Amino acid sequence: MSLAAQDFQFVCTLVRERSAIVLESGKEYLVESRLGPLAKVEGLPSVESLVAKMRSNPNGELTDKVIEAMTTNETLFFRDKHPFEALREEVLPELIERNRSKKELSLWCAASSSGQEPYTVCMLLREHFPELKSWKVRFLASDLSRNMLERVRVGAYSQLEVNRGLPASYLVKYFTKEGATWMVKPELRDMLDLREINLCKPWLGLPKFDIVFIRNVLIYFDAETKRQIMGRIRGLLNPGGIMFLGGSETTINIDDEFQRVRRGSTWVYRIAG
Ligand SMILES: C[S@@+](CC[C@H](N)C(=O)[O-])C[C@H]1O[C@@H](n2cnc3c(N)ncnc32)[C@H](O)[C@@H]1O
Repeated sequence: MSLAAQDFQFVCTLVRERSAIVLESGKEYLVESRLGPLAKVEGLPSVESLVAKMRSNPNGELTDKVIEAMTTNETLFFRDKHPFEALREEVLPELIERNRSKKELSLWCAASSSGQEPYTVCMLLREHFPELKSWKVRFLASDLSRNMLERVRVGAYSQLEVNRGLPASYLVKYFTKEGATWMVKPELRDMLDLREINLCKPWLGLPKFDIVFIRNVLIYFDAETKRQIMGRIRGLLNPGGIMFLGGSETTINIDDEFQRVRRGSTWVYRIAG
C-alpha cells in the first residue's frame, strides 16, 4: 500500500524544516523505502504508524531518526578523482605557500558522511605534504547525521567500501585489517575534529578556514538555502580560501561573489585576496 498523500506531505515538511532536504512529489517510494526499515526497528507495523507516532510528538527522538533515515549518505574514497588531484597539485601548494609564515592550515569537510572524503584528504596531507607535520593543521569533519559521525569516529570500512576508490598502496599504509574490517590508523583518525553541524541551522563558534569541502549535499537543498549556505561559507573563508563543490554543483546564478577558477581538471570556488 502506498503512502497517503497527507503522510507524505507531513514527512516532506518535517524533513525540509529540519534538514533543508527537499523531497519533490513523486518521491513517495523513497520515503517508504527509507522509513520502512526504521518502522521495523522501532517495532511498528508500518510507515503509516511511524508517521502517526511522529505526528503525536514531532520533537521526539523518532523525528531525529526519521531525518537521518532520509539523508543520502552515498560516498567513496577519492570520489570523482579530479578534485583530489587539484587539491594535491595546485590548491594545497598555493595555500601552503600563502600560509608559510604563520604555519597554519584550516580545513572543513561540511558533509562528511561516513568519512571517506575527510580521510581521503588526510591521506593526501600525510602522503604529499610532510612539512605540515610541524604546522598547526585543524581539520573539522561534520555532518547532520550522528550515525555517520560515529562511523567517522570509529573509522571501520568493509572490503566493499575500500574497494571503491582507495588505491591499494594507501590501504596497506593507512589501514589495519581486523577480521573482515579495515580500520583507519589512529594517525589519520587523530587528524579530525568531529562535530554535528546542521548546515541549515546556525553554525556556532566555527573558526576561519582555508579550504571547505561541501560536496554532494547542496544538491538536496532549494536555491535560497544554497545561497544562504554559500554566503555563510564565504564569511568563514580566509582570503584566497577555496570551496570545493560536488561535480553537479555550482555557484553560478546562486553566489557570484565566489571566483570560479580552474584548478587541474576541476572547478573550485575562490575568495578574492
Ligand atoms: C551524499 S553525502 C555526501 C558525502 C561526501 N561529501 C561526498 O561527496 O562523498 C551527503 C551528506 O550530507 C549530509 N546532510 C544532509 N543534509 C544535511 C544538513 N542539513 N546539514 C549537514 N549535513 C547534511 C547527509 O547526512 C550525508 O552524509
